[in-house]
Amino acid sequence: MENWLQLKESHKSLSAAAASTYDDIYENSNHATGIYMRYEEDLIHASIDHIPEKKVAVVLGSGTGRDSFTLAGYFEKVFGLDFAPEMTAQAQINQKKRGLKNTVFMTLDVEQDPLPFADQSVDFINSSFGMGSFVLNPANFFLEIKRVLKPGGRVIFSFYNSQAFVNQLELGWAPAISSRLNHNEETLEVQFGGQNFQIPVVAYSVKEIKAELERFFGIHAISTFPSLSSIFPQQFFENERVRNLCLEADLLLADNIELAGGPFIVAVVGI
Ligand SMILES: C[S@@+](CC[C@H](N)C(=O)[O-])C[C@H]1O[C@@H](n2cnc3c(N)ncnc32)[C@H](O)[C@@H]1O
Repeated sequence: MENWLQLKESHKSLSAAAASTYDDIYENSNHATGIYMRYEEDLIHASIDHIPEKKVAVVLGSGTGRDSFTLAGYFEKVFGLDFAPEMTAQAQINQKKRGLKNTVFMTLDVEQDPLPFADQSVDFINSSFGMGSFVLNPANFFLEIKRVLKPGGRVIFSFYNSQAFVNQLELGWAPAISSRLNHNEETLEVQFGGQNFQIPVVAYSVKEIKAELERFFGIHAISTFPSLSSIFPQQFFENERVRNLCLEADLLLADNIELAGGPFIVAVVGI
């Protein structure tokens, strides 16, 4: 636990360093990371169709506000929570640029602090881009999310997959993905803007996280992404046809949870 708290400081340093350039760099510098971000966004749009009311949405680990702004098109109010004040400040700048009035960004550690919402008051929660793996004790985290979620509401979780193909291979090249588990599976190596950061992470197999989630929620869908595109180097994707063929294969493989080759596990759950 002590080690977790120390390493968590390095995650805060990464967020502080990344806040102002995050939007330009993340999606564009590594092909597999970019297609994963779009995969999650498609899942958000698809999941919202199933929610009975669209009053309040919450983003846990909201960063620069990317997914909060997507949700702002659907919900009356969107709250974005992030433990890095630099991320909150950047999200507020981005909100002003977009002229949005229904997003609120707050600095809060969602692993440590209670969520600032009443019981059964939130329609939708997004905890994506690996956020589920940035929490040491998932049971406490899930319980708090369950407390604030309305019946019929949905949550999208994303976790790092210990069984991903890219995490099981010894590669002689840098794959086109910005974050990769280290061999001890307890830290994540993140490349950002030419710098390397080691941040604490709890990686799961699909089987492990499915069993943990089922203690608290009903699972609507679970997938891993992107199995194939996360293995090859960035130059591999310079050819558009190669990019499209790999994407097609990755979309076909996403729901195959026996194979479960993608570096991210994405679960859509509800109560
Ligand atoms: C990979 S970024 C994702 C940001 C955004 N959701 C997106 O998809 O662009 C993860 C974010 O979670 C935040 N974060 C990590 N652990 C957190 C915690 N315990 N409480 C609040 N925020 C956290 C980080 O500061 C970072 O901004």
